[in-house]
Amino acid sequence: MHLLHIDSSALGGNSVTRELSAAIVARWRDALPDLRISYRDLDLDPVPHVTGRGLSGADADEVAAAARTLEEFLAADVIVIGAPMYNFSVPSTLKAWIDRIAVAGKTFRYTADGAQGLAGGKQVIIASGRGGLHTGAPSDFQEPYLRQVFGFLGIDEVTFVRAEGVAYSPEHRAEALAAAHASIPEPV
Ligand SMILES: Cc1cc2nc3c(=O)[nH]c(=O)nc-3n(C[C@H](O)[C@H](O)[C@H](O)COP(=O)(O)O)c2cc1C
Repeated sequence: MHLLHIDSSALGGNSVTRELSAAIVARWRDALPDLRISYRDLDLDPVPHVTGRGLSGADADEVAAAARTLEEFLAADVIVIGAPMYNFSVPSTLKAWIDRIAVAGKTFRYTADGAQGLAGGKQVIIASGRGGLHTGAPSDFQEPYLRQVFGFLGIDEVTFVRAEGVAYSPEHRAEALAAAHASIPEPV
């Protein structure tokens, strides 16, 4: 079994989602000692944005980075993603990664009956961090967006581990983090 661990927070050691994604991966490692783990830090090692030169094949570096990113995703059975809310959605580094894994003919296709996801059978666990409270609110373009993206690719097993309101106060942050740790699901 292969687990792909992605982080995207720009806050380094002060990051809520990095702490939570690491805790989720540690839980999987403890449960499955033979688990293969790949790690991608999108803050330190970002995936290039989609450009015309890349799409046309003129930028060989972009083409190679896109292929590598897609291969990493396709090889994974479980994907753990540290996903902060940035401006009501996800960091642009995570969006750039999503642009590389949503590839027609590889992870989805259009048929006469509509879109069909081709990446089913994977499990996605998202460590979500938000400064404010957004669950169920119209301001939440992060969690519904991520559910839509992975659902579109055929992945219905998407679990969220949430720390919300972390900017309200240090006490609120500590409580939200403790609750998020307690909600980490057992590996299945
Ligand atoms: C660039 C930036 C944009 C942010 N935008 C929002 C936002 O729109 N709504 C919100 O509730 N929190 C926002 N926050 C706060 C983060 O969601 C919060 O700090 C969260 O803990 C980030 O996860 P991290 O600690 O893993 O970096 C933003 C933080 C940054 C750095």
